[in-house]
Amino acid sequence: MSQEKLYYPDKELFKDAAINSMERYHALMQEAREDYEGFWARFAKEKIDWFKPFTKVLNEENAPFYKWFEDGELNVAYQCVDRHLATRKNKAAIIFEGDNGDQRVLTYRELAYEVNKTANLFKNRFGVKKGDRVVLYMPMIPEAAIAMLACAKIGAIHSVVFGGFSADALRDRIVDAQAKLVVTADGAFRKGKPYMLKPVVDKALEEGCECVEAVCIVERNGEDIRWVEGRDYAYYELLKEQSHRCECETMGAEDPLFLLYTSGSTGKPKGVQHSQAGYILWAQMTMEWVFDIKENDTFWCTADVGWITGHTYIVYGPLAAGATTVMFEGVPTYPDAGRCWRMVEEYQINQFYTAPTAIRMLHKLGADEPEKYDLSSLRILGTVGEPIDPAAWQWYHEKVGGGRCSVVDTYWQTETGGHMISPLPGATPVKPACATLPLPGIMAEVIEEDGTPTPVGEKGFMCITKPWPSMIRTIWGDPDRFVKSYFGDCKKDGKPVYFTGDGAMTDELGYITITGRTDDVINVSGHRLGTAEIESAIKKHPNVAAVAVVGKPHDIKGESIFAYVVLKEDNGVADEVETLKEINEVIKKEIGAIALCDDIAFVPDLPKTRSGKVMRRILRSLVKGEAITQDTSTLEDPGVVEKIAEILKCKG
Ligand code: WTA
Repeated sequence: MSQEKLYYPDKELFKDAAINSMERYHALMQEAREDYEGFWARFAKEKIDWFKPFTKVLNEENAPFYKWFEDGELNVAYQCVDRHLATRKNKAAIIFEGDNGDQRVLTYRELAYEVNKTANLFKNRFGVKKGDRVVLYMPMIPEAAIAMLACAKIGAIHSVVFGGFSADALRDRIVDAQAKLVVTADGAFRKGKPYMLKPVVDKALEEGCECVEAVCIVERNGEDIRWVEGRDYAYYELLKEQSHRCECETMGAEDPLFLLYTSGSTGKPKGVQHSQAGYILWAQMTMEWVFDIKENDTFWCTADVGWITGHTYIVYGPLAAGATTVMFEGVPTYPDAGRCWRMVEEYQINQFYTAPTAIRMLHKLGADEPEKYDLSSLRILGTVGEPIDPAAWQWYHEKVGGGRCSVVDTYWQTETGGHMISPLPGATPVKPACATLPLPGIMAEVIEEDGTPTPVGEKGFMCITKPWPSMIRTIWGDPDRFVKSYFGDCKKDGKPVYFTGDGAMTDELGYITITGRTDDVINVSGHRLGTAEIESAIKKHPNVAAVAVVGKPHDIKGESIFAYVVLKEDNGVADEVETLKEINEVIKKEIGAIALCDDIAFVPDLPKTRSGKVMRRILRSLVKGEAITQDTSTLEDPGVVEKIAEILKCKG
């Protein structure tokens, strides 16, 4: 049996939870196994305010292009805002806290007005129609959520680009989506100082973005910006002219709701396309099941709206559930490492959701900070984005949660839309740093390529073996890549099944522990980056002949980026520190500061097979200082491994 201690939920705290016992969990799982479509149909009817009810549940004819509730009609902005006006019009929908501590509260009624005015602006002034793409390059301010919902209201497809991405990265995403409108802000505030976004948009639009007809700019930090006549428009000026009434566009369940670009193991980022009904259904259900959201709760997810976590658990999930969601512009360590705990006290936060990187950082910088604040409102602490280590988990559980809160380690991806594997706060006995069990209705299994279950304690492929409502529908503009990326590796009963790209292990309880990516994706501070993207950026450095990047374990960030660089001209003049600086300048331009290299090593060559494939696994082992267990005899030059090991040893 498992030696580790299990943490049982506080029964009193969770007596009213939607799923408040393991019996209830198993009953739901059983229901899903016996009648999969019936299970989902039941919840879809119960949770969504349909304009026209669906008659078909799951269409598998064109697998893996699955369709859910396809003849149903709805509007996601209606689901998230309008329908709450009958019962919650004066309830806070969004509580915003700025970097400088400024506050703004939007009730559901105020949010409805702002969304409607913005929707009218997009539609009437910028000619945005159903199906058009709108790129949002926004700071963490309520207008970001408002713009997302305004798109949903009129049936436009938004693509939020994280504000840390560079002009080049932004341009790639604008062009790939062929966006008609870009919504941005002058900038915002971080660590007490203004930072800028609009100049990045200006730079992105310098070339190749003929699709963009207008740029709509929200004023946030008031800094001077350049205005391009006939292209740039001030949001608040135009908003004044718009009516606060706006009809919802009627949307088909399978119409795209949004695109979100994410990194894969190869090539350029992929535009993950999500649907209307399936996505919003699961966003709302997981708010109820995993976060046990209650009418008077205040929910805070610290993610950025530029990532899927921000989409599902700052905007869509909480609002669909009629909850109060907190949006924070700043960083957790400013003005000090007590910022988050002060906010938990101030707003009486009930659910706090963040990334392990933030937890490790707050632990390191302020282990005793939580004691200075009244954190008794907290019931649930969540983590997401990367594996959490037991030490960080313990601190979170004891010091932040007072040993009383349920800690939910939620495993999911941009492509899954919402949580896949997670403890249920009122039911699941938790093993630290383990995502535990699939949520009811989610057929998550650790299997071999042929579908046989991987033996307990061994690493296998983390797959979802049945389609689920909130799954990715396709990669924008590249359906073949969609099929290849997710349905090319594993089969069950002869049928291709969704492979996450992660490895995982089960224990004797059936609990699943995620062991990390099996592909060439690096997870830095919970940000997902593809080695291919970083390498193609570094290759633009004039003196780089070849490069391979790998993730190197890092105390705070989880992983940091390490690059093996083969120079074009290795005349002994090039200096690692200088070259690293130059390489980082290139990365900053091509991708953004989130993908900076921490360290590099000059190497004579990369370990390649005779067919020219770089053996990245060897490079990963080398940087960790692990013994090389891989067979090196198939390498073009087996001696290179020794040489690289020697170079790393000298670096120390
Ligand atoms: C990793 C973030 C361990 C995983 C929602 C996945 C995790 C990738 C966890 C998706 C977790 C996410 N434990 N690893 N609880 N949650 N991951 O698309 O490798 O930005 O494939 O979505 O993060 O990252 P993405």
